[in-house]
Amino acid sequence: MIRTIVTGTDTDVGKTVFAAGLSQALKASYWKPAQAGLDGETDSQAVARLAPEARVLPEAYRLNTPCSPHEAARVDGVAIDDAALSLPQVDGPLVVEGAGGVLVPYREDLLAADLFAKWNLPAIVVARTALGTISHTLLSIEALRARDIAVTGVAFMGDAEPVAEGAITRIGQVAHLGRLPRLDPLDAGTLAAAFAANIRMDLLA
Ligand SMILES: Nc1ncnc2c1ncn2[C@@H]1O[C@H](COP(=O)(O)OP(=O)(O)O)[C@@H](O)[C@H]1O
Ligand SMILES: [Mg+2]
Repeated sequence: MIRTIVTGTDTDVGKTVFAAGLSQALKASYWKPAQAGLDGETDSQAVARLAPEARVLPEAYRLNTPCSPHEAARVDGVAIDDAALSLPQVDGPLVVEGAGGVLVPYREDLLAADLFAKWNLPAIVVARTALGTISHTLLSIEALRARDIAVTGVAFMGDAEPVAEGAITRIGQVAHLGRLPRLDPLDAGTLAAAFAANIRMDLLA
């Protein structure tokens, strides 16, 4: 049964879209521990829209400011508490989407990767294919492995860039989980079809 973290090299790389595709394919529970920024569609709302068969769990923290959770919590006068960030107890598959990248602070003494290590789940790294991705992705993998977090593989988002994708998988000694092209329109139907056609579910188990 798949229980995984979906993290990424950065914010806006496509973690939510990938997590939605995965949650729909698995009919999984989806959990966003801390949502920073409540204007517009939240990640949980995007997953509910893009993954109609996912079960979207409530966030532990809903913070108003679209920035690092540690700062968003400070602005709202909220204390981020380890116990509230415990992994939800659910039966069946679970997809957890981290905020931003691997070393984003939830508190100054609690980075995203520290939480991942406590949860003891493997991580999928979502990476752009665009220029700059090699270093960002290898850095993310190193930071995860430094904390003994298993890296299931890298899921790429964007146009095919075989040189960058190949460099990452070989240098990082990491599985290539597939690549989602830019979808237009992006909706539950196009995402499910692209996910089934392009993502190596066999490597996730
Ligand atoms: N494969 C894709 N096709 C079309 N739009 C995409 C795709 N992946 C991501 N996007 C769009 O890019 C933006 C950032 O993606 P998102 O999944 O929210 O990133 P993250 O969760 O890493 O911040 C969103 O507006 C999302 O709809
Ligand atoms: Mg997101």
